[in-house]
Amino acid sequence: MKANIAILPGDGIGPEVVAAAVDVLRAVAQRHGHQFTFVECAVGGAAIDAYGEPLPPATLDACRKADAVLLGAVGGPKWSDPKAKVRPEQGLLALRAALGVYANLRPVRVHPRLANLSPLKNERLAGVDVLFVRELTGGAYFGAKTRTAEQATDETKYTVEEIERVVRRAFELSRTRRRHVTSVDKANVMETSRLWRETVTRIAAEYPDVDFEHQLVDSMAMLLLTKPAAYDVVVTENLFGDILTDEAAALAGSLGLLPSASLGEDRTGLYEPIHGSAPDIAGQGLANPLGTILSAAMLLRHSLHLDAEATSIEAAVESVLASGELTRDLGGKAGTREMADAVLAALAAQQRAAA
Ligand code: NAD
Ligand code: IPM
Ligand code: MN
Repeated sequence: MKANIAILPGDGIGPEVVAAAVDVLRAVAQRHGHQFTFVECAVGGAAIDAYGEPLPPATLDACRKADAVLLGAVGGPKWSDPKAKVRPEQGLLALRAALGVYANLRPVRVHPRLANLSPLKNERLAGVDVLFVRELTGGAYFGAKTRTAEQATDETKYTVEEIERVVRRAFELSRTRRRHVTSVDKANVMETSRLWRETVTRIAAEYPDVDFEHQLVDSMAMLLLTKPAAYDVVVTENLFGDILTDEAAALAGSLGLLPSASLGEDRTGLYEPIHGSAPDIAGQGLANPLGTILSAAMLLRHSLHLDAEATSIEAAVESVLASGELTRDLGGKAGTREMADAVLAALAAQQRAAA
């Protein structure tokens, strides 16, 4: 098939991990006879430096025309002055809003070989396989903000429609998994959470074949550490989802491993690792590219409907982890390039085995 993929490397380790994932996409295209066209665009701090804004119109235009968007990470100390007029992160938020990608899928699994990297006891990690569905275009991230010298506010707003569509997505996804949905809110304090809970309860009645429960977010933060294997699909609002998924990354062993897919009603999805620009290791070739490579696999599955190709990338990553070729965040010595080459070699080995 022919596909047009917008590539937004961004800042810090973004360009390093995106280059690795593009190599993997090229290899998959070649093996399966697809024609992928990559259009590279500026976003984040790099775009502020070049064009004075974090999401230049040409970038947004290219993303809208693309079948899918692959993004590295944005932000860094250079653009983090609290008094700065514009921040790299605003570009990412504006892109999510413009593409209407309200459902952010963040799968978390624990590879047995990496279980000893987690601060948790190994026996608690057996069977961990959680899909977080984070609402991505509403809540405190997009509410009105005010600021005077003496006070500041961030409005949290959700409409029934915003809650319904992401919660339905979560229930639908649970039917392809273990049919268990946990909805996370703070309904004992927040009015938006009470609306969230009421709406989820109503939608859950449409899915009698799916088990569902409510949890309060503070308690959920603890339950994720005490019984992580008990969860299947976890659906929650934007801010809670941001926090809980970084927490969940500690189960998997490293933030560098976790991919994400952000989906709306249209085909154009946005794919990015959940980690940031990692300024502490940027430019050194040390970043773990697997979260971005696995995001590229999600891109093939969700935007291009190339399921077999997605699965082959996931299997290649599994075999690399099993072989013990690991980046520093996973306790190994491999660099970004070596890790990408190991994934490419695993893909080539699959091809030889199939021939
Ligand atoms: P971070 O995710 O960039 O880094 C947190 C820690 O994890 C660091 O020690 C880093 O070295 C490590 N890490 C992250 N990704 C890694 C990888 N692939 N391989 C190995 N180690 C990895 O979070 P932060 O330091 O809090 O934020 C840095 C900047 O990134 C901030 O400007 C923040 O706003 C931005 N950020 C962007 C995104 C995004 O673009 N989606 C996500 C999170 C943070
Ligand atoms: C993420 C990041 C972003 C978020 C920031 C960079 C705006 O932390 O993708 O998880 O909070 O959504
Ligand atoms: Mn985050």
